[in-house]
Amino acid sequence: MIGGVYRTDVQTYGRGLEGLVAGTTSIGYIDGEEGRLVYRGYAVEELAANASFEEVTYLLLNGDLPDDYQLDEWHHEIASWRNPPEEAFKALGRIPNDAHPLAKYRTMLTVAACHIPEADATDLGAQQRRPARILSWAGSLASAAIRHLHNEPPVPPRMDLGYAAHFLYQALGRVPTEEERKAFEASLIVQAEHGLHAAAFAALVVISTGADLGSAVLAGMGALSGVRHGGANQLAWEVLEGLEDPDHARKWAKEKLAEGYRFPGFGHRVYKCPDPRVRVMEPYAEALLRSKGLENRWETYLALRDEVEQALGPRGIFANVDSITGLVYHPLGLPPSAFPIPFCLAIQTGWMAHCLEYLPEGRMIEPGAVYVG
Ligand code: COA
Repeated sequence: MIGGVYRTDVQTYGRGLEGLVAGTTSIGYIDGEEGRLVYRGYAVEELAANASFEEVTYLLLNGDLPDDYQLDEWHHEIASWRNPPEEAFKALGRIPNDAHPLAKYRTMLTVAACHIPEADATDLGAQQRRPARILSWAGSLASAAIRHLHNEPPVPPRMDLGYAAHFLYQALGRVPTEEERKAFEASLIVQAEHGLHAAAFAALVVISTGADLGSAVLAGMGALSGVRHGGANQLAWEVLEGLEDPDHARKWAKEKLAEGYRFPGFGHRVYKCPDPRVRVMEPYAEALLRSKGLENRWETYLALRDEVEQALGPRGIFANVDSITGLVYHPLGLPPSAFPIPFCLAIQTGWMAHCLEYLPEGRMIEPGAVYVG
C-alpha cells in the first residue's frame, strides 16, 4: 500500500474471494475433493452416529469432547437459558405473521441481545460466556417464530429434554418420537460447522471489529438467509414438492438442464464431489419418509438427484446438504419456510467457535479493493 492506495500489481483477487484464505483454524476441516468433513479431528459421520448435539457444540467451542461431568454441566448451562427475555417475544407482535421465520427470529434475537446484562463487555472472558445463552435462547425464539406463522403462541420450555428434542417440542408442541429426534439431531450435527463459509466469514468480520458475539451471530444470520446459502433448503424442497413422481422429476430436470437452470440444493463452492452430509442424512430421510407413507417423495428425490448429478456431476456439481434436510424436516411437520431455521441453529455454533478462536488475534478484517476508475 502506498499513500493509502492499494497497488493492483500486488493484490490477490478472486471473484467471490474464491481461492483466498482468511486465516488458520483448528475447528473444522473440509476436503472438497474426497468429500470429507471433520470437526476438531472427528469425522462428521462418526459424530452424527454417536454424539449428541450438545456434545458436538462442546467439542466445537472447547476443542474436545466433554467427559461425563463436563457434559452434565454443559447440559445444565444450556437448559438454564431456555427462558429468553419476554420483550423478545413481544417483538413478534410487531412483525407480520407471514414474514420469513428467519427474519422474525433474527429480530427477536436482536431484542433479546439488548437484555444481556453485560452487553457492552467485549473482553474474551465475557465473549466466552455467551455461546450457551445464544444457543439456548435461539432455540426458544426460533420455535416461537415458526409457531407465529400460524398465529400459535410459544410453547413454554421444559428442562428434561435435550437440545434437539426440546427445539422440536417447542416448535411442534409435541415431544418427538425417538426416530424423529435422532434424524433431526443428526441434521443439526452435520450442519454445525463448515469452515469460513460466507455466513461464518460475515460473523468473523463483525467480531474482528470489537463487537459482541451476539452481533456477530446476527451478521451470520443475515448472510445465511440468502437463497445461495441457507435459504436453499427451502427452495430445494419447494422444487421437489412441485414434482409429482420420479418420471416427472426426470422429465423436468432434463428440460431445466437444457435451459441452464441453477438447481437449488446442488453445487458447492468447496465440494466438487458428493457432499458427505448428504450421505449421512439420506438414510434418516428415507426411513422417516417411508414411516409416514411418503415413499413417492423419496423416490422423486432420488430421480431428481440422479438426473442432475448424471448431467452436472462431471462438472463437480452434486446434491448438497440443502437438497436433503427438507426431506427430514417435512415429515417432522415443519413448514418449508422454517427449514433454514435448524440450519441456522446448528451452524451458529461453528460461527461462535470461529469468532472465539479469532478473538485473541484481535486484528480487524478489512480487505482492499482494486480501483478500476
Ligand atoms: N445448478 C446448475 N448449475 C450450477 C449450480 C446448480 N445448482 N451451481 C453451480 N452451477 C454452475 C453455474 O451455473 C456456473 O456455470 P458456468 O461456469 O457455466 O457459468 C458454474 O456452475 C459455477 O457456478 P458459481 O456460482 O460460480 O459457483 P460457486 O462456487 O459460487 O457455487 C453455489 C456455489 C452454492 C453458490 C452454487 O452451486 C449455487 O448457487 N447452488 C444452488 C444454491 C444452493 O444449493 N446453495 C447451498 C449451498 S450449500
